[in-house]
Amino acid sequence: DGFWAVVPAAGSGKRMGADKPKQYLTLAGIPLIAQTLNNILSWPRLAGIVVAIAADDTEFQKLPQASNPKVHTVAGGKERADSVLAALDYLSGVAAPDTTVLVHDAARPLVKPADIEKLLAAAPTALLAQPASDTIKQATSAEGQARVKHTLPREEIWLAQTPQKAPLELLRKCLRRGMSKSPALITDEASALELAGYQPELVAACRSNFKVTHPADLILAEALLQYQSEQIQS
Ligand code: CTP
Ligand code: MG
Repeated sequence: DGFWAVVPAAGSGKRMGADKPKQYLTLAGIPLIAQTLNNILSWPRLAGIVVAIAADDTEFQKLPQASNPKVHTVAGGKERADSVLAALDYLSGVAAPDTTVLVHDAARPLVKPADIEKLLAAAPTALLAQPASDTIKQATSAEGQARVKHTLPREEIWLAQTPQKAPLELLRKCLRRGMSKSPALITDEASALELAGYQPELVAACRSNFKVTHPADLILAEALLQYQSEQIQS
């Protein structure tokens, strides 16, 4: 009756522009992905984690978390959704069809356990998200320039984060269909569920749940992780 986590970690971190994929950069003395896995391993009722790593990955097995009995690995794919699908295919062989799955980016080390509780208590399909603080412009391209087409009503705008929650076989079916029909639209789990007519619940998350994407994100994430570990030690 526990739930599973799926962690896509097979990306190459182009926007970070480092000499290795961002999940292996060290933050507060520990690789980013190890920070995320330690966080997930602390969630109550967690049955296990399936991590999707790149087919040519040589770093993951060196981590202490790799030998945790709750941690399983599969080879990821070309797009994030391919990596998630590979993990769900594996999970299909070991967990019941209606098992609750939380898909969580390796690059979000700072999600709060209290927000995980809120997500688990939400509707069967749900995701953590951030109400927009900036005004969002819909753009159009005119003579090679980006021009404002119109402004979206800010009270209605949320920025999708992870974890994103759904029952195992429902998510697997929706992602599979979405990726074969309109792969460009499938940028997260919720988008695949929406295409199938579901309306996942939006659960407001703490701002610290940002995705480490650009070099400046490393500075903030490291400071927050450092602060967290000092709080635990004192
Ligand atoms: N991911 C994955 N498989 C892929 C692409 C991405 O498992 N084919 C994972 C990444 O490792 C990351 C998460 O999906 O944990 C979110 O993706 P993103 O932040 O875009 O990471 P990257 O794709 O690595 O970065 P970039 O887009 O800048 O190259
Ligand atoms: Mg990417």
